[in-house]
Amino acid sequence: MKIFLTGANGQLGREINKQFQENYQLILLDRQTLDITDFKSVETMVKDIKPDIVINAAAFTKVEEAEDHPEKAYQVNTIGAQNLAIVCKRNLAKLVHLSTDYVFDGTKAEPYDEFDPSYPLSVYGKSKLWGEKLVEQAGGNHFILRTSWLYGEGNNFVRTMLGLADQRDTISVVADQYGTPTYTKDLVWVIERLMQTDFYGIYHASNKGSTTWFEFAKTIFALSGKSIVVKPLVTDNYPLKAVRPKYAVLDNKLLKLRGLDIMRPWEEALKDYIDSTSAHTK
Ligand SMILES: NC(=O)c1ccc[n+]([C@@H]2O[C@H](COP(=O)([O-])OP(=O)(O)OC[C@H]3O[C@@H](n4cnc5c(N)ncnc54)[C@H](OP(=O)(O)O)[C@@H]3O)[C@@H](O)[C@H]2O)c1
Repeated sequence: MKIFLTGANGQLGREINKQFQENYQLILLDRQTLDITDFKSVETMVKDIKPDIVINAAAFTKVEEAEDHPEKAYQVNTIGAQNLAIVCKRNLAKLVHLSTDYVFDGTKAEPYDEFDPSYPLSVYGKSKLWGEKLVEQAGGNHFILRTSWLYGEGNNFVRTMLGLADQRDTISVVADQYGTPTYTKDLVWVIERLMQTDFYGIYHASNKGSTTWFEFAKTIFALSGKSIVVKPLVTDNYPLKAVRPKYAVLDNKLLKLRGLDIMRPWEEALKDYIDSTSAHTK
């Protein structure tokens, strides 16, 4: 099976490479090799390579920067996604596209499932939602996986916290935003299961359970044996340009209904990640 992977240098891209390189013919495309905003290049490459599956791990993920430069976010997350979807349809390739919990406004008191309406609060969230819509409108065979609070190989909250623990005694972390940390390893397990099927559509794909950034930070330090004082912070006292949903917990309802929800509880996945990270740094 031939798989065409965009955004191969990102967190998710690197994990897909790690897990798929043995069993699949993987064509790795970073931003330098293929800019997904360039329709002609996308079309030429897909036509030449004739992949069975295209996985779009490319995205503009700088949530704050997107507020100042919305066109950058819309070019990559909306137009880039549409380019891939059109070309996949023309070339009969399946498309696996990634989206986010930030398509929701966070006003619901219980986990969001795939049937809930989306009202994004930030430019990033809007650009991802419109990416989803245009992928759907292109009319090809596609899976859209919405995930949340992703960590893996690359810059992420876990690495930032571990770095800060070596520099500081005290840290303040937002304690009134709820979500679910998700390990790229688990997300790739789901992608692999889903991409073998014809069960196209939108799926929520997060690790199980929920927490706040504050509790997440405390768990990172506990699991890694770092001693640092973590203080709770209220979002309103830590103003950022992009408004984040207060409650963005995802319910993997469709994966559950399909018997494909193989996600672990977030604490278990985090322990696995921290154990493997410290094994690498020993
Ligand atoms: N990170 C999270 O917490 C999170 C949460 C929910 C959903 N998601 C979604 O999950 C997916 C994977 O996220 P991630 O954390 O792996 O993102 P990431 O680490 O930021 O990786 C994204 C990759 O896309 C590349 N890219 C940017 N613009 C491109 C373009 N025009 N053409 C081709 N490649 C381009 C980036 O390259 P450069 O570095 O060179 O720009 C980067 O390597 C994304 O769809 C994201 O929206 C992420």
